[in-house]
Amino acid sequence: MNTAEFIPKIRSEKIEEIGFTWQTPSNIALVKYWGKSDPQLPKNASISFTLNNCHTITTIDFSIQESAPCADFDLFFEGKEKEEFKPKIAGFFKRVEVYCPYILDYKMVINSENSFPHSSGIASSASGLSAIAMCLMRLEQALNPRLTEVYIIKKASFLARLGSGSASRSIEGPLVVWGKHPKIAGSSDLFGVQFPYKVHPVFQNYQDAILLVDKGEKQVSSTLGHNLMHKHPFAENRFKQANENLSKMSEILQNGHLEEFIGLVESEALTLHAMMLTSAPYFILMKPNTLEIIHKIWEFRAAENSNICFTLDAGANVHVLYPFSEKEKVNRFIESELANYCQKKQYILDAVGFGAKKG
Ligand code: DP6
Repeated sequence: MNTAEFIPKIRSEKIEEIGFTWQTPSNIALVKYWGKSDPQLPKNASISFTLNNCHTITTIDFSIQESAPCADFDLFFEGKEKEEFKPKIAGFFKRVEVYCPYILDYKMVINSENSFPHSSGIASSASGLSAIAMCLMRLEQALNPRLTEVYIIKKASFLARLGSGSASRSIEGPLVVWGKHPKIAGSSDLFGVQFPYKVHPVFQNYQDAILLVDKGEKQVSSTLGHNLMHKHPFAENRFKQANENLSKMSEILQNGHLEEFIGLVESEALTLHAMMLTSAPYFILMKPNTLEIIHKIWEFRAAENSNICFTLDAGANVHVLYPFSEKEKVNRFIESELANYCQKKQYILDAVGFGAKKG
């Protein structure tokens, strides 16, 4: 695997002080990543819709100092210093140090905020780590202005992946594939790539309403969850199935067959949970209201001849997916019916987006 292209070749002039602000979104996988090997390489390829409204905005201010043995940074989340978030970020900096040796020359002050409540059960690692990766790449560009935009985006996804696998899919949009796959030109285990084929217009501005069923702390950390796939009796078949599903999804995204889309997306969500239900130790991450919502969605789909469907992350919240043309009808259904199954009736209306933006 060729990671050498991500190691800077020149040591450039230092800049005294500089800062960058980037906004990067969360994403929702249609074909799921569940299972990885070191260093953060996926066991199968995955594809996600990049979101728009659920995002993190991060500013990093860099000021030059004597080169330090490890990354030196302060971390503020929503204006408050957050010691408890530091170990994860320190681990990330350690992992990327060989690719970004210049970070050791700077004191970094990181200020970060999410557009969604931190304890909403929405994975903030994808948006959080991709935002940091974008800021690092802008520093690298300032140090070496000859870097191309294509390289910056690719390396930002590469760095983000080393922090959190799904973060590699949050740099671009509206559809990103991460993981080498024979049917996806340019795909790689090292970074995410934009879905490289023409997408049917029915998927334009696709809607995602995130129903907050359980806002508690995650029961299973992703790392623990991924690790359970190592000795899982169904793991090899699952990885094979996911890659086959990605081939099917690629066709569907091009031909616009929504019925097949719905079948595949819902099956992927339930299979992800089936892996957790059948691992040792096992987990049930759905809550009773998750199932209530799924049944309500199925009833509505049949009664209204709708194309609404659901997907799930590794938690109890439900992502409701539907075409833009059904936005009004489905939003009314969510407000009048599905919201009753959410904690404090809370949900977030989102739609597909285009990735990292300058803040
Ligand atoms: C269920 O990207 O959170 O959301 O690489 O350990 O940070 P780490 O895991 P993470 O796993 C996401 C898993 C998932 C499915 C997906 O987004 O593909």
